[in-house]
Amino acid sequence: MKLSPDGYRLPSGADPLEVVHQHGTPLFVYDAQVIRDAYTRMVRAFDVPALSINYAVKALQNINILKLLGDLGAGLDCVSIYEVEAGLQAGFEPRQIIFTPSAVSFEEIKFAHALGVRVNIDAIPLLERFGVEFPGASVCLRFNPHVFAGGHRKISVGHINSKFGISIHQLPHVLRLVKRLDLRVEGVHIHTGSDILDPDVFLAATEILFNTAKAFDDLEYIDFGSGFKVAYRPDDIETDIETIGQRLSARFNDFCKEYGKDLTLMLEPGKYLVSRAGYFLVRTNMVKQTTAAVFAGVNSGFNHLIRPMLYDAYHHIVNLSNPHGKPRIYNVVGYICETDTFAIDRPIAEIREGDILAIFNAGAYAFSMASNYNMRPRPAEVLILDGKAHLIRRAETLDDMMRTQIPLPDLFPDKDITV
Ligand code: LLP
Repeated sequence: MKLSPDGYRLPSGADPLEVVHQHGTPLFVYDAQVIRDAYTRMVRAFDVPALSINYAVKALQNINILKLLGDLGAGLDCVSIYEVEAGLQAGFEPRQIIFTPSAVSFEEIKFAHALGVRVNIDAIPLLERFGVEFPGASVCLRFNPHVFAGGHRKISVGHINSKFGISIHQLPHVLRLVKRLDLRVEGVHIHTGSDILDPDVFLAATEILFNTAKAFDDLEYIDFGSGFKVAYRPDDIETDIETIGQRLSARFNDFCKEYGKDLTLMLEPGKYLVSRAGYFLVRTNMVKQTTAAVFAGVNSGFNHLIRPMLYDAYHHIVNLSNPHGKPRIYNVVGYICETDTFAIDRPIAEIREGDILAIFNAGAYAFSMASNYNMRPRPAEVLILDGKAHLIRRAETLDDMMRTQIPLPDLFPDKDITV
C-alpha cells in the first residue's frame, strides 16, 4: 500500500476506505495484481526446461484465488483431501495437484489416489501400505534432509526433530520397499520450512535432495518445496528469488544432464505468492491510556489473524483514516478475551475512535488460520481485480456458527429456566 497526498492506495490504485465503505469491517482485501506480479516474477527467475509452480493452498484457500493462479499456469500443493476437492472444483486437472499430507489416515491417501492426484508420501509405513494396496503405482517421496533452515522454530520443518518426511538416512529401506512393491517413484520432495533467511542454506538442502534423487531411475520431477521469505517489516530482508532462481536452475540443468533426462523443477510457494497481496482492514473501537501504554483496540483479534500471537510475527499497521497524522506509540490489541496483541510499542499516525487501520501481509495464513473463537464470525473477503472490488466471501453470521450445532431438546427436562 502506498501513501499519496490523498491518503493510502492499494497497490493497483484502489482506495481502501472506499472498499470499507462498500463492505464494512473487519475485512480481508486482496489485490490480484500483486499475486500476478509475484507469480510472473517467480517464473522469470528460473531458467529450466520445465517449471511447475504449485501454489500452497493452505496459505489462502478462496476458490477465486485458486482460479486466478490456475489461470496464470500454476498447479496446486494440497495438504488435506478438502483442499484437493476445492482444487478440482476450481478447475485444476488431477495431475496438476500434488497431495502432501502429514499424519493423515490411509483412507484419505487412498481417496486422493483414486481422484488421480499426485501423492507425496512422507513415512515408511505409509509407503509400504500404499505399495501393497497399489502395486506398480506412481508416488512422490518426501524426504527430511535434516537441515535447520533458520526462521522461527515453529515454522522450520526440515530438521531432525521434525515430524515431516522420511529421513534421508532411511534411503536404503526406501529402495528395498520400492523394488519389492514395484512402485514407480516419479518425484522426490523436500520442504525445509517457511521464512528462509539464507539462500545458501536453502541451496545446501537442495544438494541433499539431488544426491537422494540419483537413487531413483524413473523421476519426472524434483520438488524443492518452498519457504521463500517476504518482507513483513518495512526494512525486512526478502528471499532474493532471482539469485535462488539462477543458482538452482544452473544446478538443476546440470543434474538433468547427469541424470540423462529433462525433469520438471517443482516449487510450492504460499507466502511468496499471496502474503503481500492481502490487507486486513479493521475499525478502532477504543483508544485507552493505561499506566503502561496507549492501547488501540480494534474490531478483530487473534481469531482472525493469529500470526502475531502464534509466532510473534510482525505485521505492519497504518492508520488509513488519519494518514498524515502525527505518529504516536501504540499497542494495537484485539477484542478477544485474553491477551490479544497485534503490535507493541508501534509508531502509528494518531489513532482516534472509529479510525480504520490496515494490517499488512494479510494474504497468507491470515484468513486460512482464522477461527470462531469467542464466537465471532469470520470476516468477508474482497478481491480487487482489474480495478473493481469483488466480494469473494461474505462475512459469517450467527446462523453460520449455530448451523452445525445440534441442540438436544430433552437435555434438562426438569429444569425451569424461565425467569
Ligand atoms: N510446502 C509445504 C510442504 C508446506 O508445509 C508449506 C507450508 C509450503 C509448501 C508453503 O510454504 P510458504 O511458501 O508459505 O512459506 N502458517 C505459517 C507457516 C507454516 C506453513 C506450513 N507449511 C505462517 O503463518 O508463517
